[in-house]
Amino acid sequence: MDNKQKFEEELQNAGKRKLLNRAILGMGAFGLGSFLWMLTRAANTPSEFQTASDLKIDLNQIAEGETKTFVFKGSPLSVRYRTNAEMEEAERLYGPGLHDPYANNQLLHEQDPATNANRSIAGNSAFIAVISICTHTQKCATNANQGDFNGWLCPCCATHYDLAGRVIKGVAPRNLLIPRYRLGNNNILHILS
Ligand code: FES
Repeated sequence: MDNKQKFEEELQNAGKRKLLNRAILGMGAFGLGSFLWMLTRAANTPSEFQTASDLKIDLNQIAEGETKTFVFKGSPLSVRYRTNAEMEEAERLYGPGLHDPYANNQLLHEQDPATNANRSIAGNSAFIAVISICTHTQKCATNANQGDFNGWLCPCCATHYDLAGRVIKGVAPRNLLIPRYRLGNNNILHILS
């Protein structure tokens, strides 16, 4: 092999090495991206993540004044244990001026009013359980314990829900949905699919 052939061969090998290095770097970036995505997802996933179609929630595990968020059929579901003062506030905010006058409770009739009692867990009215997706676009997860009424706040276009999950301020048309449930023994709440 003369010098010219040797030189061309080295040139080819160098080109292959460069390609290989790029491929490895690309895979590394993809792997890092996937890893970061998984980390982000893990950070955003509520700790009580459950995938079973019926969700069981032990209400004894929720402290007074606390809201816990679960996942029910792919949607966030918030359960709040309201204090006495919060219950009084929820009673006070019920009136003819409500944006959505109806309970939006799957256990009740469509025209039942959005009183605090109709929005609370029957059998343990200090608690409320809502699907905490904003009813405006039905795409934004609301944030609990936020907003002017310390209920739920939609971060997308700022609808404020009160401690009974009712729209008090903003553009959302409906109160947060109350799913079908059954309160079982020992304060175990069954969210029914
Ligand atoms: S999506 Fe919630 S207020 Fe618009």
